[in-house]
This record gives sequence, structure tokens and C-alpha cells, in this order.
Amino acid sequence: MNRGLEAYRREPGPDGGERKPVEGTPLCDVRRPTATDDHPGNRPEVGSDDDLAIVVRGLTNQFGEQVVHKNLDLNVRRGEILGVVGGSGTGKSVLMRSILGLNHPQAGTIRVFGSNALSADENERHRIELNSGVLFQDGALFSSLTVAENVAVPLKEHHKQIGDDLREHLVRLKIRLAGLPDAAGDKLPSQLSGGMRKRAGLARALALDPDLLFLDEPTAGLDPIGAAAFDQLLLTLQQALGFTVFLITHDLDTLYAICNRIAVLADQRVLINAPIRQVEQFEHPWVQEYFHGPRGRAAQRAAGEDA
Ligand SMILES: Nc1ncnc2c1ncn2[C@@H]1O[C@H](COP(=O)(O)OP(=O)(O)OP(=O)(O)O)[C@@H](O)[C@H]1O
Ligand SMILES: [Mg+2]
Repeated sequence: MNRGLEAYRREPGPDGGERKPVEGTPLCDVRRPTATDDHPGNRPEVGSDDDLAIVVRGLTNQFGEQVVHKNLDLNVRRGEILGVVGGSGTGKSVLMRSILGLNHPQAGTIRVFGSNALSADENERHRIELNSGVLFQDGALFSSLTVAENVAVPLKEHHKQIGDDLREHLVRLKIRLAGLPDAAGDKLPSQLSGGMRKRAGLARALALDPDLLFLDEPTAGLDPIGAAAFDQLLLTLQQALGFTVFLITHDLDTLYAICNRIAVLADQRVLINAPIRQVEQFEHPWVQEYFHGPRGRAAQRAAGEDA
């Protein structure tokens, strides 16, 4: 059983998604990048289909009569930030949970860094868990634990041999990496702003130095400045540490600012998985409405180009 991940899932966090500015220490410039910075929306493809972090084939997920995924295929390349978009209820979170082995599909195969995510062999799934950091949609911090204690949970779970001093040092490091002040470590999740809670969740997701980071709506509920700061933090960390990111988001600005490719979920499958400029051109009513509706056009303009 995926005990660590199950543990995160058990207790929903108090993150009500209120719109508050991010507090703490920004690690970098919080502006959205523009055409004159390394142009967003043209973030190049990285990696190749010969070097895949995640391979999903023929995935079917069904709850009762409701078919959420049918014969879904997806490639996630090593070292990329893949944005995963789709209407509410199209199965983005279910897909993420399937990849993490928390949801058992009716059919299909899922390989993560070569390991079978659906294997009955606990060791095989454990390898995936050790290599993965997760920020769930609801935040899912333990409300009765401080931020530092929350970040320590995966370390205690997976690295029991680490002594208290080293663990405390690592926890402090992750808290700082996530752009939070040291003092935030002593606070309960309920004593943090929405943006700080997202960062605390990120600190915990980074606890095991993962090769693969799963983020489910990390900027939901943040004001635009807080969301931009979070995007930039994520991009900076990804470029420094080189992990692969599976990023579920509704935030168009995030897609333009930091994603290398975008996978669109609709009609029970991945419609297209490509750089954003190709996705924008894809002939599908949801895609056209999403990318060329008023919000889509605004995001494109913010990214430095007219729609
Ligand atoms: N454990 C479950 N039992 C029954 N139905 C489920 C379960 N988990 C998810 N579903 C259903 O599957 C569908 C897809 O859910 P999912 O949470 O993946 O959507 P989503 O794309 O992440 O949506 P949102 O953008 O609103 O977060 C929904 O209709 C949901 O009700
Ligand atoms: Mg969801």
C-alpha cells in the first residue's frame, strides 16, 4: 500500500483557497515573464519520447456507470513541466491518482521511470513513491501538525535512519526552498495564508528530493501576484533541480509562463499533448473556447503576444 501518499490523503487540509497575497520570502522576481524575458508560451519542448518519465497506455477508469477515462494514452517526458488541463470533472485528479497508485483503473498500464505503477508488488510501487512528491488539490496538510512536522512526515516514513538533527536541518532547507521564512515552520496550517499553505505543501512535496513532482491546482485560490510568485518559484526550482513536473491547472497564465507542453483532457482521453502554440490551434470546441475565449486571449497578451 502507498502508505505515505495515503497518509497525506487522509486528512484534508484547511486550505479554503481564499485570495490572499503570498507571504514569506520570494526566491525570485514575481513578475510574469514577458516577451523580453525568455519568452513564455514558447518554452521549448524538452526531453524526447525516447526518455519518458511516465507512460500511460489504454487507461480506463470507471465509477459505476460513469466512464471517466477510456483508452487514455499519455507520455510525460523526463525533465519537462507538463501542464494538464481540461474541464472540471474530466478526470485530471483521477489520472494523477492513478499514476500514483491511489486509484485502481479498470484497464491499462502505467509505468513511472520504468516501474509498473499498478503492480501488485509493493516494492515496485514503493520505488515510485520514493521518487515522487505530491501536492494534492486540497492541500492535505495535517492540520494538527506544524508546517515543520508536516514536512518531516515523508522523511520519517521513508528515511527512518536519519537522526533528529539532520532531519530538522533538511526540513528547514525544504521550507526555505519553498520560499517560506523559518518562522513558518512552527505554525499550524490554519495560521498560514492560502499562499503560504501552498508553499508548505510544496515544501513537503520536495521533502524526499523527488525526480517527479505532482501538483494539482497549486495556484487555485491565489491572487494573481501570489500565483505568479508560485509559478516562478516552481520554474526556478525545476531548472535548478531538474525534476519532472505533472502540473494540473486551470490557470492559463501558468500554462504560458512555465509549461513546456500541455496535455488536454476531454472526451475521456488526452486530446493533444504538445507545446502550447500547437494546442491553441487544435480544433476542438473546449480547446477553442478555453484558449481563445476572453481569459485565454488575456493570458496570451500577458505572455507577450496578441491573440
Ligand atoms: N472515488 C470516486 N468515486 C466515484 N467517483 C469519482 C471518484 N473519484 C472521482 N470521481 C468522479 O470522477 C470524475 C472526475 O473527477 P476528477 O476529480 O478527476 O475531476 P477533475 O478533472 O480533477 O476536476 P476539477 O477540475 O474540478 O478538479 C468526477 O465526476 C468525479 O465525481
Ligand atoms: Mg481535480
